[in-house]
Amino acid sequence: MFRSIRARIMSWHLLVTALLITAFSLILFSTVADSLYRGVDMTLLSKAAEINSGLDFEAGRWNFPQEENDFSAADLLIQLSDLGGNILARSANLGKKRLPLNATIRAQALKDGPAGSLATVSVGQGPPLRLLTVVDTGDGTSAGLLVQVGISLKRVESTLGRLRFWLLIIAPTLLLLSSLGSFFLADRLLRPLKTMAQTAESIGERSLSERLPVANPEDEIGQLAGTFNRMFGRLQRAFEQQKRFVSDASHELRTPLTVLRGQLEVALRRRRSAQEYRQVLETSLGQAERLSRLVQELLLLARADSGKWQPDFQPIELAQLCAEIAGEIKTLAEQRQITLEVACAKRPVVYGDPLLLRRMIANLLDNAIQYTQPGGQVRLSLELQGDRARLSVADTGLGIPAEELSHVFERFYRADQARSQQRTGGTGLGLAIVREIVRVHQGQIEVESTPGEGTIFTVRLPLYRTATRSH
Ligand SMILES: Nc1ncnc2c1ncn2[C@@H]1O[C@H](COP(=O)(O)OP(=O)(O)OP(=O)(O)O)[C@@H](O)[C@H]1O
Ligand SMILES: [Mg+2]
Repeated sequence: MFRSIRARIMSWHLLVTALLITAFSLILFSTVADSLYRGVDMTLLSKAAEINSGLDFEAGRWNFPQEENDFSAADLLIQLSDLGGNILARSANLGKKRLPLNATIRAQALKDGPAGSLATVSVGQGPPLRLLTVVDTGDGTSAGLLVQVGISLKRVESTLGRLRFWLLIIAPTLLLLSSLGSFFLADRLLRPLKTMAQTAESIGERSLSERLPVANPEDEIGQLAGTFNRMFGRLQRAFEQQKRFVSDASHELRTPLTVLRGQLEVALRRRRSAQEYRQVLETSLGQAERLSRLVQELLLLARADSGKWQPDFQPIELAQLCAEIAGEIKTLAEQRQITLEVACAKRPVVYGDPLLLRRMIANLLDNAIQYTQPGGQVRLSLELQGDRARLSVADTGLGIPAEELSHVFERFYRADQARSQQRTGGTGLGLAIVREIVRVHQGQIEVESTPGEGTIFTVRLPLYRTATRSH
């Protein structure tokens, strides 16, 4: 019904306050009224008792003390009658009037006995009268007597009237004040949300560095803004990473294309010998191969990013896989005069995709061989560590400077030293792919390196029996 939170807060507040004020007013009014009426009744009862005790019955008639004949009570109207209803005495303030004494009152008084019968009776136009009628039925020595004490309820009614008047003024005023308060409070509380919404609206692709204002980081709204700001931070990092990736990728694709185009243009400029054509074709083929490898790797990463990898998981004997890959790569190591040592004493079984795992180990071995000088060593080892298989590739190569270690898994990242040597012609995607493969196998990868001494890449993969089959 109410679209805005402010309207909802205000209407609830108004409803609750209205109920509270009404309940309070009703209770106050009824308590005051009750106590005033009770006070009147008490006065009537005590006066009746006083009168009764002051009367004598002598020589067959009631004897009213002269000085008390007017019964000297300012507001109280007193009337004494016999059981037949004949008035025997009245207080002076009654003047010519008499207190009501009809058959009903008499009957009720007789029924209620000496405790007295209380009733509110209306007399003419004026305010009602509270009337107490007490019966003294007499005994052998005295005749029966009806003592009536009445009081006008004018004063009580006017007090209650005043109270009602003030409550009717005060209650709506309080309600108005409290709704004004709730209006301003809701406005104050919700203003930061409005500002947040406006800022969030203006944050777009180009202004991801903007952040929401945080007035008070301790309160709930501040915490919400903080959460959003952290989310914007993550989005900004991811977005920048993506942008860098795209621009790096286009750059990497452009280089071989430029080379290819240059070679072909030069070759076509004039007639060339068959040998020259052959050389150009060979270089072009090399560039085309590099291009297709790049595109294939980029596609692989793009599929990993969009969650479209559907690895073919199966139990795999890692030791066997290691031996196979080492066999394939042995020639390359020999060519570069590098000793390749394989230490796979344990035979852990992991749950993985054979092609991806093969690629992971090959990339690591390839790096170790590429970045190690001739005469160096590369060691591939496999161990069991708790419920994990620990695969490590250690070399005695160039090493990676500490400040570059955290970057080696980034896409297109190549450490300067290696790049300046232009020795590999690699794409810089190898370790990024390794990291994705480790991630999809729910493993961990870490690297330790001492420049000039060597590097160790360690991968930990869950074993088959403990691996979760939720892949
Ligand atoms: N074993 C190692 N020793 C020293 N430096 C290494 C080693 N492995 C990786 N690096 C550094 O990390 C960088 C990134 O490695 P990565 O395998 O991702 O790319 P690359 O080898 O340059 O290219 P490719 O995509 O062809 O593998 C390398 O350029 C190199 O500087
Ligand atoms: Mg590599």
